[in-house]
Amino acid sequence: VTDTIVYHGLGYVGLTGAIHFAKSGVNVIGYDIDQSVVDAVNAGKPKAGEFLGYLGGTNLQIGDKPRNRLPFRATTDFTEVCAHRIHIIAVPTEKDGEPWMLLVRHVVWTLLDVLPIGSLIIIESTLTPGTIDQLMKEYTGGTHGCLIAHAPRRDWFADPEKNLATIPRVVGGFTPGATEAAVKVLEDVTPAELILQTDHRTAELVKPLENALFHLPIMLAHEMALIYPGHDVREAVRLASTHWRFASFGGLYLGMGSGGRCVPLGPKYLVAGAEVASVEAALHDPKPYLLTSALDTEQEITRWTALAIDRAVGTTEVDRATRVAILGIAYRPGFADLGFSPALRLAQQLRNAHAHWMIDLHDATATPAAVQAAVIPDRFGNLTGENPDVFATPAELAVKLGIYDVVVVVTPHWAAYEDLGCDAGRVEYGTLPWRPGQIIFDARGIWSGYAERFAQLGVTYHQVGTPGWLG
Ligand SMILES: NC(=O)c1ccc[n+]([C@@H]2O[C@H](COP(=O)([O-])OP(=O)(O)OC[C@H]3O[C@@H](n4cnc5c(N)ncnc54)[C@H](O)[C@@H]3O)[C@@H](O)[C@H]2O)c1
Repeated sequence: VTDTIVYHGLGYVGLTGAIHFAKSGVNVIGYDIDQSVVDAVNAGKPKAGEFLGYLGGTNLQIGDKPRNRLPFRATTDFTEVCAHRIHIIAVPTEKDGEPWMLLVRHVVWTLLDVLPIGSLIIIESTLTPGTIDQLMKEYTGGTHGCLIAHAPRRDWFADPEKNLATIPRVVGGFTPGATEAAVKVLEDVTPAELILQTDHRTAELVKPLENALFHLPIMLAHEMALIYPGHDVREAVRLASTHWRFASFGGLYLGMGSGGRCVPLGPKYLVAGAEVASVEAALHDPKPYLLTSALDTEQEITRWTALAIDRAVGTTEVDRATRVAILGIAYRPGFADLGFSPALRLAQQLRNAHAHWMIDLHDATATPAAVQAAVIPDRFGNLTGENPDVFATPAELAVKLGIYDVVVVVTPHWAAYEDLGCDAGRVEYGTLPWRPGQIIFDARGIWSGYAERFAQLGVTYHQVGTPGWLG
């Protein structure tokens, strides 16, 4: 078993990686600059702990209490961690939704300055292609004697079947010796036959490429819904994705754009790296047309959905500020991750166009506090308007649905939201107060079964990708 491993950054990636190694008996020290993150780990209740289920249980005994079974504790003491020779970096490489390499460069340079000769640095953070070459070229600290490798993360925190021990792991060293050293460490968690070796330049391409390979067809499906607004694109996409070639996609479907911390960012990393790569090759012509189009399409979906809402509102007689409820802020049904939320992008677009509208947000998986935190501190401005309501439960939401002129369901969170469409109601909700003139925009068709009833009630129902959805 490997010597002590130091994990830098105890967010989703660092925490889950650290626990994997600790579970296989490796002594792990987690280093984070945020004292509250460190304290939470040592108290056995890590901040990014909602995905611990994927590691085999939420009651993993971590932290520095005597009853601990896992050899994993956390610290903010950089001097202490520098005495060790194996370092895995999982610090953020995105800022404001864009690739951002400054921090990871700084962390690597600092480690090169202080680590003992023969130390190993494995970078798990997603990198813009070219980052390692560039940071090594620009390192001014002289001889360092460290080995560097990149082993991007692709495990899926929502699924216990797709963790570091069960899916293929790509690793590429700056030198063959670095690859070999990194493989030895990774083998403590990932079976040897699942470790795919390459060089650092290729490894840097893999993670953004696999995300872009998924992002592009999703954007194509959405573009179809924009350019064929009178057709049943939703059904065509469903039928096309039954082709045997797409079996591994698990079904392609329409929504209001893509979300999460990986897929929509893939093209951004590749575009950022391409600028440097084409200059290096002294070729300025090859342009990343497909990637930039996919990124533009992502914005177009939000813009057109907001325009369609505008048009629908314009045809009703609203004599006060339009009231909008946006449901499903987390990007994926049943999964409390607010990263790169299509619902927040739509809310932002509506807010920019209509400063006086009242826009309320609801998510059935994330807490109201988490939704508020995702909105308030950053660039969304006064998103919740005069009435900063983030409803706690679907039942509370049900009581209030009748006050909204527009109800948008972005991420369906099936079990929580399904019955809200039915005016006959569910026992605990009572009769739902749909009223004539209300407008519904439904990304995935969670209420499509009630479409006829909505028509009888005088409620206008739009499902993304179905004929006439743009108005
Ligand atoms: N979350 C995902 O689904 C996912 C999946 C694959 C790859 N990634 C990549 O992994 C990296 C980390 O992502 P995350 O989601 O875990 O981020 P995160 O924001 O959840 O956590 C990052 C942690 O790093 C800490 N940190 C910041 N500066 C530090 C420093 N100088 N030294 C030590 N710790 C520091 C922060 O306090 C925070 O606790 C990113 O490059 C991301 O692109 C994320």
